[in-house]
Amino acid sequence: VAPLKVGIAGLGTVGAEVVRLIETQARVLSGRSGRGIRVVAVTARSKAKKRGVDLRGVEWAKDPMALATHPGIDCFVELMGGAGDPALSAVEAALNAGKSVVTANKALLANHGLKLAKAAEKHGGALNFEAAVGAAIPVIKTLREGLAGTGVTRVYGILNGTCNYILTRMEQEGLSFAECLKDAQRLGYAEANPSFDVDGHDTAQKLAILASLAFGTKVAQSAVYVEGISSIAPEDLRAADDLGYRLKLLGVAVRTAKGIEQRVHPTMVPKSSSIAQVMGVTNAVTIDGEGIPPITLVGPGAGGAATASAVVADIADVARGIRANPFGRPISHLRDTKKAPMERH
Ligand code: NDP
Ligand code: HSE
Repeated sequence: VAPLKVGIAGLGTVGAEVVRLIETQARVLSGRSGRGIRVVAVTARSKAKKRGVDLRGVEWAKDPMALATHPGIDCFVELMGGAGDPALSAVEAALNAGKSVVTANKALLANHGLKLAKAAEKHGGALNFEAAVGAAIPVIKTLREGLAGTGVTRVYGILNGTCNYILTRMEQEGLSFAECLKDAQRLGYAEANPSFDVDGHDTAQKLAILASLAFGTKVAQSAVYVEGISSIAPEDLRAADDLGYRLKLLGVAVRTAKGIEQRVHPTMVPKSSSIAQVMGVTNAVTIDGEGIPPITLVGPGAGGAATASAVVADIADVARGIRANPFGRPISHLRDTKKAPMERH
């Protein structure tokens, strides 16, 4: 069987690690997929930058659009980030050309996911985005496949590694917000614009994706109420501690009689609760379903290796010919997002 030919746009924290993983795991991947996976072309902003990976024999495409429509690739992997161009046009062009797309870009999906899923449905390519929420945690597959037969009533958790890392270090080491954010950036956890992390937008994007999968609604970031952690000071954490609580940035999506309520804000959680034990860059997602006890998934929520693990698993699915409806149902079955009024909990 011919190998799956992959083109990767973006060779930063995640992209470079994906190239490395495809190379080091080649045997395991071809065993699981029944065919090889070969990176045939890549692109990024700077061709000269050292990436720490072997790109000999790999074509350098002139820009993301040229790569997305490259006749020699079957699967376009978008790891540049950003809700707009070049990611949007390139992903759309790849899908319209009948190629499969793998992306970790929650900003793109939360704002244009429906349009992109329509293009995938129309032209037959896969649109896979396991890495977009919870990095290595297989939460997309859990909601889309594992819980396909369960009515989900609520999905919530810690969805941003950078914020949880900052809050943990501020609390445990008494460091300033700015110092902790700098470290999160150095470790490759933060977004290119870290205000997306600390102002809660990254969590909102991930929550919008999870809510769509959980409730069969059209993904929409605009339906999420958002408040971040940028104004939290060490004394707020100490005050919470004195009262027996810990501060966490939570994303919560609940099915109510009035619609789907989606909100992101710092929350006081009792220190004895399981969510309070989730520290550092770790993420945790709890899913409440009808007739079953809650399911909680916990794992590394950011970083090159954790994210690349999910990206490569998505590429392996394309190689195996697995093609799921991106948001779990055919587009025509997705309901409008009826935004519920916020209620006090
Ligand atoms: P980086 O900023 O480290 O890398 C971005 C890459 O995209 C760089 O190689 C950059 O090129 C390239 N790029 C940016 N703009 C353009 C452009 N206009 N044309 C061509 N190439 C471009 O980001 P990450 O690797 O951290 O993130 C990539 C994606 O993965 C984002 O969507 C992010 O949200 C998502 N993600 C990241 C996680 C993480 O922990 N880092 C976790 C989960 C998801 P150059 O190197 O030349 O500047
Ligand atoms: N900036 C994101 C975070 C990357 O810190 O969670 C993972 O999506």
